[in-house]
Amino acid sequence: MDDSVDAARAGARADTAAAVLTIDLGAVVSNWRQLALRAAPARCAAVVKADAYGLGAEPVVRALIGAGCREFFVALVDEGIWLRESLGADWPADARLHVLHGVLPGVEEECLAHDLIPVLNSPDQIQRWQTLARRQGRALPAAIQGDTGMARLGLTPTEVVHLTREPQRLEGIEPTLVMSHLASAEEPDNPLNALQLRRFLALRAHWPRALGCLANSSGIFLGSDYHFDLARPGAALYGVAPTVGQANPMRPVVRLQARLIQWREVVTGEAVGYNHTWRAGRTSRIATVSLGYADGYLRSASNRALLRLNGTAMPLVGRVSMDTVTADATDVAPECLVPGAAVDVIDEQQDINALAAQAGTNAYEILTSLGARYRREYITP
Ligand SMILES: Cc1ncc(COP(=O)(O)O)c(C=O)c1O
Repeated sequence: MDDSVDAARAGARADTAAAVLTIDLGAVVSNWRQLALRAAPARCAAVVKADAYGLGAEPVVRALIGAGCREFFVALVDEGIWLRESLGADWPADARLHVLHGVLPGVEEECLAHDLIPVLNSPDQIQRWQTLARRQGRALPAAIQGDTGMARLGLTPTEVVHLTREPQRLEGIEPTLVMSHLASAEEPDNPLNALQLRRFLALRAHWPRALGCLANSSGIFLGSDYHFDLARPGAALYGVAPTVGQANPMRPVVRLQARLIQWREVVTGEAVGYNHTWRAGRTSRIATVSLGYADGYLRSASNRALLRLNGTAMPLVGRVSMDTVTADATDVAPECLVPGAAVDVIDEQQDINALAAQAGTNAYEILTSLGARYRREYITP
């Protein structure tokens, strides 16, 4: 009698997951501690927007709270509300949650009701928050963001000058942070870093009592000049390499295994997959594996990335489809080609950074694309 019959008789549910994503929260905590150590004496926050870069904001934030992190950033008011409601009474009284996009018209009350601190990015956001503070009859905390060279979010230098000439426009607002964002911090030699630093020093001088906050993950590695009072890393917490061309000091957080569905032999000259983008140069064994672009496995990895079975590399051949990929398993020992066998997709040998390079993107996009169909397993710290 095979095992599945045994399991069915015992009433146990068979393992139906087509792919398993393992998220190591101990590695997230260890990465945060490493970044905090590098940034010290500045404090270290955690950026947990986009569901903690796709890894699950609630478990990630719980783990980081356990490690002592007390400053968090999301992008959207909705993300902040969701996080506060998910954590409920477990949200520490001394922890702060900032919203990077600030307050769009009509969301101020919700922002305040959920104790979210907006990052004010424009004169109209400042005015909106001030109007709410007046209605409340008390000062309300907010971060102020200036644009130091990215032209994306934050007050322009001219707007900053206007604001400092008319300080009444900030009455009722208690600036907690003065912040800006670096555009190329992963490239240490890029002169933009020093230019943004100079501009940030000037910006910060306007609000000397607020905490200065500039460095993202890569910014922490640019040196102590960039640390100010609070560092704001996201990607490196989740294993993304902070500096281009240098060894990655962060611990890998994500592991992904999919399953072999079936395999077939193709003869020399036979083509594989949609639009026949690969043709066999020899008689080959082709493995079909249960993941695809519907799982966030990027189509641009077609004919480029590797899978691994029992430690043997299987290069992708043919196009990534919606639910399957095909790989050249000719070098895999035939006895390993068993339907249901675990196939390594993201592991220490081909981590998110390597996969990103193969797929022609960055590791941020690999992480935030990780699919909803994967069964997620968390390793607790
Ligand atoms: C304003 C801001 N601060 C901090 C971060 C975190 O950056 P990183 O993930 O590179 O550490 C981001 C991420 O995009 C951001 O937009």
